[in-house]
Amino acid sequence: MLVGIDAIAIALPRRYVDMEELAAARGIDPAKYTLGLGAREMAVAEPGEDTVALAANAVERVLAGRDRRDLGMLVVGTETGVDHSKPVASFVHGLLELPRTMRVFDTQHACYGGTAGVMAACEWIASGAGRGRSAIVVCSDIARYGIGTAGEPTQGAGAVAMLITEDPAIAAIDIGGSGTASAHVHDFWRPLGQREAEVDGHYSVQCYLEALTLAYAGWREKTGGAELARICYHVPFCKMAKKAHEHILPASTFETMVAPSLALCSRVGNIYTGSLYLGLAGLLDAQSADLANQRIGLFSYGSGCTSEFFSALVSPRAHEAICRAHLGEVLAARTRISVAEYERIVEAREPLGTATGFAYVGSESKQRRYVRNERSAHTR
Ligand code: CAA
Repeated sequence: MLVGIDAIAIALPRRYVDMEELAAARGIDPAKYTLGLGAREMAVAEPGEDTVALAANAVERVLAGRDRRDLGMLVVGTETGVDHSKPVASFVHGLLELPRTMRVFDTQHACYGGTAGVMAACEWIASGAGRGRSAIVVCSDIARYGIGTAGEPTQGAGAVAMLITEDPAIAAIDIGGSGTASAHVHDFWRPLGQREAEVDGHYSVQCYLEALTLAYAGWREKTGGAELARICYHVPFCKMAKKAHEHILPASTFETMVAPSLALCSRVGNIYTGSLYLGLAGLLDAQSADLANQRIGLFSYGSGCTSEFFSALVSPRAHEAICRAHLGEVLAARTRISVAEYERIVEAREPLGTATGFAYVGSESKQRRYVRNERSAHTR
């Protein structure tokens, strides 16, 4: 049975900053951000645009025109949830009035959480437990480091929603072929009650590369080293994908095998759980017609750490399916803001744990407001 991604949609914050302008404001050579890190633009989430709002918007887009009664599972992969107990998936389920009979939960392991969801959904369908129903997996996060820190130019925000089905129109996952690697390391973390992440930046790069070596070897062993036309990596910043690729394969193959997946990432920044799938969406938007019936590799890394190298067979229907994501329109709808405006937005963010969280979800004509910490009034 072929199981995998049938549809993809993304949701991005409405504002972004230009990386050359950010570098200039920090007194840093712009080439460090654009060439050294590979970043062009960075998405900036405003207070109302939280992880729930981004996720709900992405799910609404991926479900447009589809029969929601076929859905049996909703998983949100996130490391920037809005409550210690109530999952983002629960808010999304309520906001979009999805079927009551669904299994609904979040998955967390830093940036790997989305892949945990993809694998859970694929294995649920492939095992027959889904009884012909489909799953939604959405990766939604806001990457925050402190202003003026080394991590600042690697922030971003956004959500990627995927419909997981039998006979998928985008790509069938090679279930059981994954190589995995984990280790208890403190490369990146976010203590309870803290909004910005803590990171040991250069060490985190080393942890990523070590995990990749082991996971890639595991995938090769399981699949016999199937031929890969492209590889999408987890993209905390675009240069990381280059470092990763050159760590396992000849550098001369980077431009062909990896560069096409980075254009979209370079205009959004790190979106943690969704970064790998943002790369996949960008790759298919650019090259799906050429990739029909070809196998691609995917590497998911979550600090802490765990990781998975897996592969997928691109469907001949992928071009048609990715066009429905209208990625160009989603990017073009954003507004560039100045560094001063970005700093004002960061300062205006409500303190963690307050009861004032809200978000507008859906099109202008169908906006809904949700209040996070209010009893029995989650959807209005
Ligand atoms: N022109 C061109 N290039 C320049 C330059 C200039 N003027 N100045 C510097 N560079 C290059 C450097 O040579 C370097 O490139 P190489 O790595 O290829 O040598 C690159 O720009 C970055 O320079 P530095 O290493 O000096 O940068 P830094 O120390 O200020 O910070 C960072 C880099 C450690 C990645 C930092 O941005 C950071 O901590 N980011 C957050 C952590 C992160 O993203 N880790 C990734 C792995 S963990 C993970 O993947 C999970 C996750 O999502 C967080």
